[in-house]
Amino acid sequence: MNPVQALKDLSHPNKERREEAYQKVREYLVSIDPDVDPYFQQFFRKVSAYEGKLARELTKLAVNVIEGPEIKHEAELRSLADFRLKEKELNEAFAFYKKVSPLFPSLDYVVDLCCGNGLNGMLWVLQGNAKKAVSIDREENPNFERVRRRILECGNLNQESIVFYQKDIYEPLPILTGKGLIISIHACGELTDKVIDSSIGHSLPFAVMPCCHDYENKSDYIIPQILRYFDIGIAIDIMRAIHIHQAGYDIILRRISEKITEKNLILIGKPR
Ligand SMILES: C[S@@+](CC[C@H](N)C(=O)[O-])C[C@H]1O[C@@H](n2cnc3c(N)ncnc32)[C@H](O)[C@@H]1O
Repeated sequence: MNPVQALKDLSHPNKERREEAYQKVREYLVSIDPDVDPYFQQFFRKVSAYEGKLARELTKLAVNVIEGPEIKHEAELRSLADFRLKEKELNEAFAFYKKVSPLFPSLDYVVDLCCGNGLNGMLWVLQGNAKKAVSIDREENPNFERVRRRILECGNLNQESIVFYQKDIYEPLPILTGKGLIISIHACGELTDKVIDSSIGHSLPFAVMPCCHDYENKSDYIIPQILRYFDIGIAIDIMRAIHIHQAGYDIILRRISEKITEKNLILIGKPR
């Protein structure tokens, strides 16, 4: 099955070709992640505007997935929230950690690209999932040092366990050895694609929660004609999932509560 051709056929003028394409995309998504996340139901619901029978079948794919451990020192971390550091940012970091960490219980390092305040990566060290957090952003967020100090105090950790590099993510990543994971929350638009492709380039697993799906055809695996027919965010993330799988990765889909953020899908890739 060629999923890229199937995606193109989703916008075919012939109804039978479209139906066949829906089936193929569905089969492909199930084959890459049998627990296809409910997020994709939204995509499939759009399909129902065309073909109700298929949509009903596709929505059966929804399942609930595992929730991770409690956050240590949560109250102390929550007290960081103020007019500079929004509670939403804390909730996103906690929820992301809970969804992704059960899949990566023991790491030498986690690299947080487009890290902002840095909490997303630092949590992995505080919780004991990673020995080191490497936080990278092209500018140092005004909250970064404040968050770092709080995490080091709470976990009684040494200074070297959290490091910051002021770097553009288009520059080469620092060289690190051991078992690693790349993460990135809300790296806007094509920055997420850069994070995915850097991870693939280093054969590292990754977890990204994309946002700002408001561009067309910036990455060569985005097929612009589909964006005319379907919700752009869902269509782009499905194309990303297929791209990641074709690069030799297993893909796992998770989702944090949409009460925290509407941009809540997590794409997780693990080299096969
Ligand atoms: C929407 S914020 C997300 C911050 C953080 N991950 C979070 O969840 O709170 C996007 C971040 O990407 C950073 N950024 C934008 N372009 C970048 C680039 N080319 N290289 C590195 N960082 C970049 C910005 O400085 C900003 O901190």
